[in-house]
Amino acid sequence: MILSLAQQEMLDGKYGRSAQKAMQILAALGAIYGAGRMVPVASVQIAGVSYDNLGEAGLEFLSDMTDGGAHARVLTTLNPAGTDIDNSQPLGISEDFVHNQERILEAFARMGVITTCSCTPYLSGNLPHYGEHIAWSESSAVCFANSVLGARTNREGGPSALAAAITGVTPEYGYHLDAQRRAAFSVLVRAKLEHTSDFGALGAVIGRHIEGSGIKPVPLIRGIPGASLENLKSFCASLATFGGAALFHMEGITPESAGQTGPEDTLVVTQKDIHEAAASLTDARPDEVDFVSLGCPHLSIREITRLVELLNGKRIKKTVWITTSRPVKHMADRMGYTRIIEDAGAVFATDTCCVVAPLKGRFKALATDSAKACYYAASKNKFKTRLLTFEQAVEEALR
Ligand code: F3S
Repeated sequence: MILSLAQQEMLDGKYGRSAQKAMQILAALGAIYGAGRMVPVASVQIAGVSYDNLGEAGLEFLSDMTDGGAHARVLTTLNPAGTDIDNSQPLGISEDFVHNQERILEAFARMGVITTCSCTPYLSGNLPHYGEHIAWSESSAVCFANSVLGARTNREGGPSALAAAITGVTPEYGYHLDAQRRAAFSVLVRAKLEHTSDFGALGAVIGRHIEGSGIKPVPLIRGIPGASLENLKSFCASLATFGGAALFHMEGITPESAGQTGPEDTLVVTQKDIHEAAASLTDARPDEVDFVSLGCPHLSIREITRLVELLNGKRIKKTVWITTSRPVKHMADRMGYTRIIEDAGAVFATDTCCVVAPLKGRFKALATDSAKACYYAASKNKFKTRLLTFEQAVEEALR
């Protein structure tokens, strides 16, 4: 790989021990994937922030990087942490865990990383534009950035994203290249998609098809007349979860769909497929649900506004987490929405979520509108699940 003079100097240690280690990580990745050069990144998003995932070994790595002079050269934000630092008690998170999570966030802050922790960074100031190279980690956000925004990123691991933040570059391979962004098969949707949960179910159908194919072909999806931001973030989360996909094109909706010629290999998705996918993520009876979580990916202010309409003056009867980013929560505070939602008995879990928080064994069954949350609630936390519409999930909480 050809390195610029500054990149070579970083590799030689001229910019300090951490910058050298970061460049070593990226040069090794570039060599593995046959990258010809490094490209500058406009922003970084780092996953693997929860103490539940990182543990002491991860903390040690971060401390070593800060001691070695690591500092973010570009806008860098974080994925959800293991708890809401400002509201951990109502979430039932232990003091020890909170302390350790704080140590992680402090280490990132020392590196100049913005410690807002969200899987929807594009809703809170980390919004790349079309064609821009970035280095993001969170799978749903990667899929959203590549597909909906037309930015260019591979799905980075935590260390390679941090390395990109420290060096300001990433190796040019995979989704940074035009050739890797072309659609390889078509999907024709012959189903009416009315809710975010329908888009989640569609992501599960297409994702399972991709996963079963052994490679990760980029789909060109046709037959969807319109999709809101919330529909698309739900779809991205699901497609990435079930298919490991980082890019799709949706005819008439996503920016790069226009340049795609129609691949002949076509998957047809019917209403029955959508129903079956939703049913496959529902194994709990209504009376078993003891936990409701909304906000996977993190809720937008429009979704919080809808929640206020549904909850205003009512009282919920189950544990309910509302997961969103700190900037969106601030909007909700300013609008008086937080008070209405908390008066109803729900708890804000800001900067965290029901998947990365340490919840194993705490609940029996989760109700949610997120196909991704269902998947991880079952696989990571061993909860039963019910995939419902947003409105049905609120109803479930009130029952
Ligand atoms: Fe975000 Fe957590 Fe879901 S990181 S996409 S809310 S699993």
